[in-house]
Amino acid sequence: MKKKEEQGPVSLEMNMNFVEIIEKKKKGMALSREEIHCFVQGAATGSVPDYQLSALLMAICFQGMNAEETTCLTLEMMHSGDVMDLSGIGGICVDKHSTGGVGDTTTLVLAPLAAACGAKVAKMSGRGLGHTGGTLDKIESIPGCTVSLTEEQFIRQVKEIGVCVMGQTRDLCPADKALYALRDVTATVGSIPLIASSILSKKLASGADAIVLDVKTGSGALMQTLDAAVDLSRTMVEIGAKAGKPVLALVTGMDQPLGTHVGNALEVKEAIHTLSGRTTGDLLTVSLELGPRMLIASGIAEDVEDGIRQMKAAIASGAGLQKLREMIRMQGGNPAVCDDVNLLPQAPVRVPVPAPRSGYITAMDTTAIGYCTQDLGAGRKQKTDIIDPAVGLVMCRRLGDRVKAGDALCELHLRSEAQAEEAIRKMQAAITIEEAARPVPPLIYATVSPGEVHYAEA
Ligand code: URA
Ligand code: CA
Repeated sequence: MKKKEEQGPVSLEMNMNFVEIIEKKKKGMALSREEIHCFVQGAATGSVPDYQLSALLMAICFQGMNAEETTCLTLEMMHSGDVMDLSGIGGICVDKHSTGGVGDTTTLVLAPLAAACGAKVAKMSGRGLGHTGGTLDKIESIPGCTVSLTEEQFIRQVKEIGVCVMGQTRDLCPADKALYALRDVTATVGSIPLIASSILSKKLASGADAIVLDVKTGSGALMQTLDAAVDLSRTMVEIGAKAGKPVLALVTGMDQPLGTHVGNALEVKEAIHTLSGRTTGDLLTVSLELGPRMLIASGIAEDVEDGIRQMKAAIASGAGLQKLREMIRMQGGNPAVCDDVNLLPQAPVRVPVPAPRSGYITAMDTTAIGYCTQDLGAGRKQKTDIIDPAVGLVMCRRLGDRVKAGDALCELHLRSEAQAEEAIRKMQAAITIEEAARPVPPLIYATVSPGEVHYAEA
């Protein structure tokens, strides 16, 4: 990659044009393919300075982009770096992606479960971001398990056992890396064309043939309203169609942590319990909505009912858990964690959070719950922070539950006693208890496919 000062006069000319590009978007006009190319290349190579990129990002936040511009931005970003070729694996490679949540460990349930049903799951996952957890950090909490594999190992593992989850190897979407870092610090994350192009450019560059998206809505999601989540889903599905890849999106609720466990090793434990059939609840419910769509996209299931039946059978027979064992073993980890979850890292201190009053749980600030676990050490506040795999919390109650003052709302898993007081205060503030019950928000809101939004019955 070239340094900024090496660009010389080219950069000057580009910058002059760039002011016009910003001006155009500021006025609400659509950008041309050449202008979008200039923007993406400027971000990927560093030839356009951050302040001009930031100004354009802010203009896009205010003025938006039409469908053609958004598709063009996605494809330009996808081609700003390497594009993976998974054709050596053979068959249809399917990927799933969530827009980010709390206690959302569906990948660790679904990747092995779909593979047990015969799907090829070649998945590149991410690390925790903001208040949300990351699959890579969870996998690394398994003793010995790595997510740093070569591309050859990745492809060989998917061919051999049908599933691999790893971090990015090649230089995938450098434009997104640069723009994402800028958006994070310039209040320009929350824009549908920017989110859609960021997510889909990476998914398209990582080579999957079909993609199932889990777009979250609610207090712990990027898109807090249903309308915004549906708009984002529609945008991503349409881009997929234009790129020639089937993309389907489900809009699901993130008004409380999805599973009961929040924190890296704790979420691995819940995934193991879900795969062994010991745990049911919202994590399993959402998994059994997304999973069948992965099987349909892979040509393995005829319809949703057939997919659910196959996935339930893979839980009952132990085939799903066996796939997780194989995946852990091939990635250098100790597969015995699947039979004895006490082999996972455990926090030395456990403290209950008492309900401050009696009543019904009517709301949870799920983003605050995510940040509380991050503060305990389960996530990074700075890029260089080291994750504590053992810490986190286990929710004892869900929305709609009736509690008495003093009942445990959740159990904190802490590195030290000194963390307790502040975490108790934050968790009590994040959970609203009222005298009268309120309706519990739904878990599955809508299914979005090209040209169609199907709302679930309330
Ligand atoms: N996840 C991404 O990868 N990009 C976004 O913009 C938002 C969520
Ligand atoms: Ca293929």
